[in-house]
Amino acid sequence: MRDWIRSLLAGRPWWMNALMLFSAYMAFVYVPWDLFMKPVAHDEEVWFGIRFTGWAAKATEPLHWAIYAAGAYGFHRMRPWMWPWASVYVGQIAVAMLVWNLVYVESGSGWAFGILSGAAFAGLAAVLWQARPRFQPASHLLRERYGEWALVTGASAGIGADFARALAGEGLSCVLTARREEKLRALASELEQTHGVATRVVAVDLAEASGADALVDAVADLEIAVLVNNAGAGYAGRFERQDSERLRAMVQLNCTAPVVLTSRLLPAMRERGRGAIVVVGSIAGRQPLPLHGVYSATKAFDLLFGEALSVELSGQGIDVLVIEPGPTATEFQSVAGEIEHRREPAANVVRLALESLGRQPSAVSGWFNWLRANVATRLLPRPLVAWIARDVIAPRIPEEMR
Ligand SMILES: NC(=O)c1ccc[n+]([C@@H]2O[C@H](COP(=O)([O-])OP(=O)(O)OC[C@H]3O[C@@H](n4cnc5c(N)ncnc54)[C@H](OP(=O)(O)O)[C@@H]3O)[C@@H](O)[C@H]2O)c1
Repeated sequence: MRDWIRSLLAGRPWWMNALMLFSAYMAFVYVPWDLFMKPVAHDEEVWFGIRFTGWAAKATEPLHWAIYAAGAYGFHRMRPWMWPWASVYVGQIAVAMLVWNLVYVESGSGWAFGILSGAAFAGLAAVLWQARPRFQPASHLLRERYGEWALVTGASAGIGADFARALAGEGLSCVLTARREEKLRALASELEQTHGVATRVVAVDLAEASGADALVDAVADLEIAVLVNNAGAGYAGRFERQDSERLRAMVQLNCTAPVVLTSRLLPAMRERGRGAIVVVGSIAGRQPLPLHGVYSATKAFDLLFGEALSVELSGQGIDVLVIEPGPTATEFQSVAGEIEHRREPAANVVRLALESLGRQPSAVSGWFNWLRANVATRLLPRPLVAWIARDVIAPRIPEEMR
């Protein structure tokens, strides 16, 4: 518990922690009380110094709640959009304090209190404005933070290829691995020409029992600083219609390979006292997913493995992140045998992963996916979530596999 509180408060100055806790208090205690418990006749809100009372005040409270909830989350995760909005909101309070005391407070000292409190909030707004670099993603420091070489599995396509591009853009040399060697070679020369980094191509099948060990042996002379466990595949369809050999290969690729790679590359990171491990999970891992049952179970495995590891390695200089994409524009859907449906660009997933690395143990890509993963699957009973998921996914599965 003490370690959890320490990790919650780490990485921010004390005054930002105070603002985070205050925002959480407002979002979870004060504003819900204001909204649901306070009689309408007593309700009063001030925006930019203008007073709202009764139902007009009540109507502004959901916005109030959303602002404090966003503030608590934004400080907790140090999201980039906190600049300039945190500062703008506190500036609004400064104006409100001044105008309110000058216009509405009738006692003689009202103007003095208005100036003093307005100045205090204006000062806080200025400090938040100055704090912009704290909210910026630290990803441009990746090479300095972790070291020279990144190993990206599944780099011949999709999210893995974009991970390699982004890491090379940060100046990291890249080991590119997958089965299709010609695609890896094309990407390697692109990275060398565009970013001037060194590359190494290792063609390996990670669904083979010996694949992960063969890969580690092929990079034994390199100091792997960033490991991206990205290679993975889905397999859509009713379980009883699925091929058992392909299921075995998927479990080996999605679960065993990341475990073996992490286990073999971690000791050298521990010795150097720095490193990063990214596991590409999926929002499919947050719930039972009928017609994708084994795949969703492999991604639940990845999520729990990565989150547990991030706690074990906390304070050791090694950052662990599970990035959880939703449907993404890659070869995934056609490989899995799905009918193609709405997808977000792979570059968005990679950007969020690099922004979140070192700041949180897991991150869901996309606000709609976030709501699915954090609200729907937590508030509804899991069997109900599974039935809903089956109805959503069924039209995406070819008739003969349903
Ligand atoms: N796209 C999505 O909608 C989505 C959503 C959530 C999570 N994800 C996760 O994102 C990760 C990357 O998938 P993606 O969307 O980028 O799909 P993708 O475009 O199909 O890429 C998969 C990558 O994994 C490699 N791979 C597949 N089987 C392999 C094997 N047996 N051995 C070695 N490498 C293998 C592929 O290369 P070769 O074929 O050349 O071997 C390819 O580079 C996966 O872990 C997936 O579960 C994807």
